Amino acid sequence: MRHYFGVMAPSYHRLGDVPAKRHVAVRDEKGALLTEEVVGAEGFSGRYSIQYHRWAPTRVLKVSEAAPPGPPDLSSDLTLRHHLLRTDKGLEPGVDERDGRVLLFFNSDVKVSVSAFGGDTGGLVRNGGADELHFVHEGAGRLESTFGILEYRSGDYVLVPRGTTHRWVPSSAANRHLVVESPLGVRLPKRYTSDEGQLLEHAPYWERDFRRPTELCDLNDETPTDVLVVVGDRSAVYTLDHNPLDVVGWDGHLYPYAFSIHDFEPISGRQHQPPPVHQTFELDGAVICSFVPRRLDDGPNVITAPYNHANLDSDEILYYVSGDFFSRKGITAGTLSYHPRGIPHGPAPGVAEASIGKERTEEVAVMLDTFAPLTMAAGADRFDDPAYPTSWV
Ligand SMILES: [Fe+2]
Repeated sequence: MRHYFGVMAPSYHRLGDVPAKRHVAVRDEKGALLTEEVVGAEGFSGRYSIQYHRWAPTRVLKVSEAAPPGPPDLSSDLTLRHHLLRTDKGLEPGVDERDGRVLLFFNSDVKVSVSAFGGDTGGLVRNGGADELHFVHEGAGRLESTFGILEYRSGDYVLVPRGTTHRWVPSSAANRHLVVESPLGVRLPKRYTSDEGQLLEHAPYWERDFRRPTELCDLNDETPTDVLVVVGDRSAVYTLDHNPLDVVGWDGHLYPYAFSIHDFEPISGRQHQPPPVHQTFELDGAVICSFVPRRLDDGPNVITAPYNHANLDSDEILYYVSGDFFSRKGITAGTLSYHPRGIPHGPAPGVAEASIGKERTEEVAVMLDTFAPLTMAAGADRFDDPAYPTSWV
């Protein structure tokens, strides 16, 4: 059985004015009836929130075609091999996050992209088909949505639940995100939580590490406003007769949140700790792990570098964020490796020997393992280093 949200750390939250009971008449300061909207998963049986809008979210003036629908273009090189994508070079900034996004990999469970964009306020977007988990590699600012203002900064994972009308408002001139789209949602691993949903003491993070929207946008603006709506391979621009960031109050369990990779508490021991100790998020069909600065294994004669390994049931993407990368020299921040199943991979020559007695690593990296094979998209081609598959000799 596939679940949308199992557990998500931030529990019940409320911002602004909400009535004592749901679905009762509630009015604005001029006596006009507010419009209630339920946003929820799994039909009416999953996690949800209730928003109170100044204007009905259905007040559409016009629907326009946004982009030709259809599946992504495939890479020109679909040979089964390892790839190193040097996305730190040649990623042109778009006018906003969505415009600057380049799709690299996809399967039926996830899409993986990188995006670069400048400092202008972004257009309003609603991904109605997938949760978006953004890893903010560079940049900071505010995510503005119907749930209010969520401040974010470099190193944050920012979760935007599907169906959330939002825009990125950077406070920095250069912005760079790694973006994972998940149609069935992003949640925290069940083994980190009690049956009641509280994070347990052995988890690598706690509720207090998760940041929520802090204030409402509460726009009272009747200017016609465009929202780009995307579901899978289809999209359209909806022109509303008002700005939809008009929510004056909401409450519930579904909303955007931020979690910094620098708040992930690493687990280490005498012997090699395998990647599941680094797990941060769970998706349907994938896991996301965070590698952060940590004390290395300190048992006698241990090799602190990873094994050579074959992931029999998963494809692996590793995105290098900062630090001195442990497994290979010449890796720069923003480089992304892709190791498909069926072909072993491991530390570069000499790394295992050099790792004996090493006490710490300062690397920061994000890993995504998918259970279904990934397909490389055409957007990846420009970053590909063709020398990588034979670089272990
Ligand atoms: Fe690996």
